[in-house]
Amino acid sequence: MNSFQMVRGRLMAESVAVKSLASRYGTPLYVYSRSHIEGQYAALTRAMAPVKPLICYSVKVNTNAAVIGTLAELGAGADVVSGGELYRARRAGVPPSRIAFAGVGKTREEIEYALRAGLLFFTVESEPELDRIAECARRLGRKARIALRANPDVDPETHHYISTGKKENKFGLDLRRIERAYRRAAAHSSLEIAGLHMHIGSQILNPAPFAHALERVAGLCRRLRARYPTFRYLDIGGGLGIQYKPGQHPLDPARFAKVVLPFMKEWGLSVVLEPGRFLVGNAGILVTRVQYVKNGPSKKFVIVDAGMNDLIRPPLYQAHHEIVPVRATRGKIVGDVVGPICESADFLAQDRQLPSVREGDLLAVLSAGAYGFAMASNYNSRGRPAEVLVHGRRHALIRRRETREDLVRGEQRLPWR
Ligand code: LLP
Repeated sequence: MNSFQMVRGRLMAESVAVKSLASRYGTPLYVYSRSHIEGQYAALTRAMAPVKPLICYSVKVNTNAAVIGTLAELGAGADVVSGGELYRARRAGVPPSRIAFAGVGKTREEIEYALRAGLLFFTVESEPELDRIAECARRLGRKARIALRANPDVDPETHHYISTGKKENKFGLDLRRIERAYRRAAAHSSLEIAGLHMHIGSQILNPAPFAHALERVAGLCRRLRARYPTFRYLDIGGGLGIQYKPGQHPLDPARFAKVVLPFMKEWGLSVVLEPGRFLVGNAGILVTRVQYVKNGPSKKFVIVDAGMNDLIRPPLYQAHHEIVPVRATRGKIVGDVVGPICESADFLAQDRQLPSVREGDLLAVLSAGAYGFAMASNYNSRGRPAEVLVHGRRHALIRRRETREDLVRGEQRLPWR
């Protein structure tokens, strides 16, 4: 399903012309399609229907309240990794009983905030963290539900920065240590053993690594189930990959389900999934305006008004994002699409065949709904872009463009001179 289509030479976001959005809200501009999010959520729910999973949307991927709220309305829970994300999820209407709290570095303050909210569970990544959660729960007179995160040491076949289930990664507990850690958890009266968590990586296109991970924890899950009556949840994280390039095959939910369902049905546990990119990646584009076309001695540069501060994925992960014209043009050029930031890493595409563009033309960077705005910064003192949500013929500003005043908000004058 594609909610961004060329119709008679004009790029449309559902039923709205992208050009009109750029004129109305300015550029650079993130545009999201609500129908695309709904379609992805429905496809995953359908494929996994035999186990009726709880889909905890991974909030880090796109933190806008309208996006989280859309998913909450559809019935999703949330996967959060900080007090800030927990705050956002609750504010957007996600019931605490559907929120899982992950991450290797939870502070005492964050743990207490989460305990007061009363979450689905904490995923726990180390023994000291386990002890800290137990201590915080004891102090507050609460019981903390926990799921230990297993590191199954499998290769998810993705970029090494975003693989998380190999033994050299900082995440989770290796399979030799984890059973001892469960015994340690059982000894804390302020903890309740709720389940097992895994998340092996992101942008995974082949379902086999999920099967390998599940095979590795199969024996463990059976033993834990038998040993702990409260052990009920199997959370296999997110990671489903999407299409960024033409011809690339996304991880279709049916293929994913075929591989993971046999394990889940056999174990009879309540299944939790934490997809992020799959739900919102192709629901978003970044619209940018060409400022200059510069002919360098060895290549052409299309200098646009979006930079690495707006979308860092190309330089950070060598990620490919398709770039299309907002209004179809005839000729083609080859060059780099670069931003205004003072870094040579500031590119959106390199040596790319592009529509022939002129100053003032609009381009759309596709597949920008996941880890786009969420990883944007104010580097070079640039305000972050506005965000708009489209639904059919309707469109609404869901985050205004940052102003120069926003850049200095929070800074204080020195009390001495
Ligand atoms: N659950 C946990 C515990 C995670 O750490 C992540 C992502 C997810 C779920 C969601 O994964 P997804 O379904 O989106 O693959 N910034 C990188 C990706 C980093 C992934 C971090 N963890 C990128 O732009 O490719």
